[in-house]
Amino acid sequence: MSKQKSKPSPTATGLEPSRRNFLGLLAGFAAAAVAFFVPIYAGIRSVIFPLEQQGLGGKFYPLTTLDNLSQQPQKFPIVDDVVDAWVTVPKKTIGNVYLRLNEADEVQAFQTLCPHAGCTIGVQTEENPKTKTKELLFTCPCHVAHFDLNGQLLDAKPDAPRNMDTLVTKVEDGRVFVRFEVFAFGTPEKKSS
Ligand code: FES
Repeated sequence: MSKQKSKPSPTATGLEPSRRNFLGLLAGFAAAAVAFFVPIYAGIRSVIFPLEQQGLGGKFYPLTTLDNLSQQPQKFPIVDDVVDAWVTVPKKTIGNVYLRLNEADEVQAFQTLCPHAGCTIGVQTEENPKTKTKELLFTCPCHVAHFDLNGQLLDAKPDAPRNMDTLVTKVEDGRVFVRFEVFAFGTPEKKSS
């Protein structure tokens, strides 16, 4: 004669059904909350701190070789994979820098964004506001700021609050690297944004 197994009582697991249901609901709610809020938080951070979010702030990028540079400024794009809350965009241009050699043949790097309000600074022959001679200058078209080729502000009553933002460079085996950063706009001091 086979023995019939007795059914486990509702309390065999140590929890009443209503309590188990409540804990199950709670766990489900917590998982849904995490799934909902984490991407939103990541998205907001990526807008407020884009470089930090992408892990790009302060990173060195190889841009060219030393023998490719002269005193004439050249513009180079900074290209990197950009990670936002949902996707990775490969090889996106995240900014630009000017590179040149100064009078002592040292590498200089400048942000192309104007420290006033972030417009893109160009390079063209213009009248130097100080010397009144025509020469190659960095100029910002938005509020007509002029900088010499060392990034020094030339205007008597400038809108731009400081000189062009310089960037840290290094040269390894003839290759020129630039540490790309974006600085706060509209402040007299150069501050990381
Ligand atoms: S943004 Fe360049 S002078 Fe205003």
